[in-house]
Amino acid sequence: DWTPASFIEDTVSQLKAKIGDDQVVLGLSGGVDSTVTAVLLSEAIGDNLHCIFVNNGLLRKNEFENVLKQYEGMGLNVTGVDASDRFLDQLAGKKDPEEKRKIIGRVFIEVFDHEAMRIKDVNWLAQGTIYPDVIESVSVNGPSATIKSHHNVGGLPDFMKLKIVEPMNTLFKDEVRRVGKELGIADELLGRHPFPGPGLAIRILGDITQEKVEILQEVDHIFIEGLKEHGLYDDVWQAGAILLPVQSVGVMGDERTYEQVVALRAVESTDGMTADWVHLPYTFLAEISNKIINRVRGVNRVVYDISSKPPATIEWE
Ligand code: XMP
Repeated sequence: DWTPASFIEDTVSQLKAKIGDDQVVLGLSGGVDSTVTAVLLSEAIGDNLHCIFVNNGLLRKNEFENVLKQYEGMGLNVTGVDASDRFLDQLAGKKDPEEKRKIIGRVFIEVFDHEAMRIKDVNWLAQGTIYPDVIESVSVNGPSATIKSHHNVGGLPDFMKLKIVEPMNTLFKDEVRRVGKELGIADELLGRHPFPGPGLAIRILGDITQEKVEILQEVDHIFIEGLKEHGLYDDVWQAGAILLPVQSVGVMGDERTYEQVVALRAVESTDGMTADWVHLPYTFLAEISNKIINRVRGVNRVVYDISSKPPATIEWE
């Protein structure tokens, strides 16, 4: 019978036999799959696992620092690379969603490749691929997916010439969470909503600037913290905010304002393929809307997305 404990025991001994004293590199994203993969591998090979966590400047508010601290507290051997400026420079002026995705994928590979090749004698690349990724082969979240969807564009980066190890490629998401729990990973990390690899870039419609990133980080933070405070976070499959390329008229004191509009999105889903908007309580939406407009400079209007997938998608870009 499959149990998380038996899976861990078998996988750890297989990984030890397969990898021996070799060095392994892994891209961490802060998400569930890459984190559980890292902890599983570190049980097997300890500090011969080298994790790389890249800040693309498009993460949630304080996410890079917080998640890095969490990883270090878990005893993982992690290098945090802050490449925010490099990503934002390359994205400057770019409006097309697919072009933005391609740039982020390319810069991620450049940064990851550079870091991975600094590790002495590395010969394995670990990926957090799970079973649905194998069968769909497209999608989804995190660096491993970014690598998969981009490695056939142009020449292979050096790290792609490494041997691949994917210890979780037979597991479904709920099994990954159970394995993670058995490994002692905090519920807070295991219960995190999915977050797209290109991050806030695809929630800032149109071109991206540092200022827009900061506005959206504040809005997103108020929304997500609000969901947690009201015990709603775990009822929602994914939530976030979108910065619209629209200004609207408002009034503040006796002054007329002309500022940005943000949309809030919260969906329920099982796999992201179909999704329904969540009927969040009006009182909650009212509180969040007030907080956002009062606290975030540059935003004077909040709307709530009531579209299902299909025909709408979860993200707006
Ligand atoms: P859509 O918008 O297609 O999103 O309904 C379905 C799920 O996929 C995530 N998503 C992405 N994840 N890179 C990713 O790693 C991407 O380019 C990307 N686009 C969408 C989205 O957040 C949702 O969970």
